[in-house]
Amino acid sequence: MYTQRHTINSSMDISGAVLFILALALSNNGSPRNVFHVYGKEFNVLDYGAISDGQTENSKAFGEAWNAACGDPTPTPQLIVPSGHTFLVNPIMFRGPCQAPGIDFAIAGTIIAPDSPGFWDGKDASQWLVFEGVKGLKVDGYGNGTIDGRGKAWWDQSCRYNPQLKTCTTLAPTALRFLSCDGSSVRNVGLKDSAQAHVLITGCNGFDVNNVVIMSPESSPNTDGIHIQDTQHLSISNSSFGVGDDCISIGDRIRDINIQNVKCGPGHGISIGSLGRSGNYVQVERIFVTNAYFTGSTNGARIKTWQVGRGYVRNIRFENLTFDSVKNPIIIDQNYCEVRDACKEQETGVQISQVVYRGMSGTSSTEIAINLNCSSSVPCHGILMEDIHLTSAMAGKEVTTYCRNAHGNVTDVAPDSTCLLD
Ligand SMILES: *[C@@H]1O[C@H](CO)[C@@H](O)[C@H](O)[C@H]1NC(C)=O
Ligand SMILES: *[C@@H]1O[C@H](CO)[C@@H](O)[C@H](O)[C@H]1NC(C)=O
Ligand SMILES: *[C@@H]1O[C@H](CO)[C@@H](O)[C@H](O)[C@H]1NC(C)=O
Ligand SMILES: *[C@@H]1O[C@H](CO)[C@@H](O)[C@H](O)[C@H]1NC(C)=O
Ligand SMILES: *[C@@H]1O[C@H](CO)[C@@H](O)[C@H](O)[C@H]1NC(C)=O
Repeated sequence: MYTQRHTINSSMDISGAVLFILALALSNNGSPRNVFHVYGKEFNVLDYGAISDGQTENSKAFGEAWNAACGDPTPTPQLIVPSGHTFLVNPIMFRGPCQAPGIDFAIAGTIIAPDSPGFWDGKDASQWLVFEGVKGLKVDGYGNGTIDGRGKAWWDQSCRYNPQLKTCTTLAPTALRFLSCDGSSVRNVGLKDSAQAHVLITGCNGFDVNNVVIMSPESSPNTDGIHIQDTQHLSISNSSFGVGDDCISIGDRIRDINIQNVKCGPGHGISIGSLGRSGNYVQVERIFVTNAYFTGSTNGARIKTWQVGRGYVRNIRFENLTFDSVKNPIIIDQNYCEVRDACKEQETGVQISQVVYRGMSGTSSTEIAINLNCSSSVPCHGILMEDIHLTSAMAGKEVTTYCRNAHGNVTDVAPDSTCLLD
């Protein structure tokens, strides 16, 4: 059995780990080029005419450098975005498959997006930098690389926060998209101020995210940190998120996800869902989240499904989480609905089962610290709660657990969670 002690410290471990890795990358004495040499042939965007004055648009140079690198048959060619340079790049797609079994995309410098939605006129507004069908792709920022979505103008016209605008928009570009990129990774890079989600990973089998820092204002609309769907064998580790929406958002058709050593806040937490919105058959299983630290986020560990959905969310494990003034540290909402209480109970539902919550501590900023709100037609089963110690963020206040149609076992949990049915 373990107590409060480990978890607050884990926040230190996380930032410590991130700093350590950054320090490692930075201690390389200048250019990470030295590191690159052990790999493949280099394709520097400067050699393809890229101009780093922050004004000139460089998608042509980036596209040509990519085509050359991707067409190179030597082992692991490297496209290089050199350090000390800032490149403005319009929306662009980097397509595979490439000739070599692996390809590196080294971002030691900074890539910035056009700062106005007008640059997307006549283009797909859902994307900015896209990798499609590239296998063995390594996007590496060497602890210095930055991707800046400059999304403010998009936020200012978003329907979420400005519904009164006639021309408000619901769709804005994701900064970095990985579509069907098996066996790939993104590492040691910072992303900020995306117009909408920062990273989308979809249709990938095998994907690693490590040492990534994602930041945008708490007030920025729909700026998820990482959204994943249609993906299996993915890990996210040693990363930090402070965003305006979910830190990590997990969509449908998901299997074998490992999330560890992450920090979330501000943000909407680590969310599985929402799922089943269109009455579809949801398939989400084997998600393991460990050593996560939530600070000032609206949710911690969240599962939300729509009543009209079908299918399953199962074999989920949340372990060793710490909460610092989180609104809903642990929450299942199986009656998720656009307008709270406006949706009538339905006979359908996404089956939620085998969910383990173990080793949690910290504070809740609302009275209900644990909220297991399941549906009467498809109740939650096999919920296991063990070694959980949550208190109120407000001195002298009590916290409670709310259960509805939730079945499982409880061992050593505060607040009292015996409302969980056997
Ligand atoms: C990091 O970026 C700074 C400024 O852009 C540059 O001076 C420095 O050399 C870079 N470090 C590495 C390791 O690339
Ligand atoms: C996360 O960081 C730790 C500590 O630096 C390191 O040992 C571990 O390998 C990292 N995880 C991944 C998946 O790289
Ligand atoms: C959770 O923390 C406890 C105590 O520090 C440790 O023994 C256990 O291995 C941790 N679990 C995971 C999955 O990291
Ligand atoms: C539980 O869900 C029902 C149906 O959506 C809702 O009316 C109720 O307010 C929820 N209760 C809590 C405590 O979240
Ligand atoms: C809950 O406890 C009962 C009886 O102790 C046991 O049979 C059952 O397997 C436990 N359920 C879970 C999900 O651990």
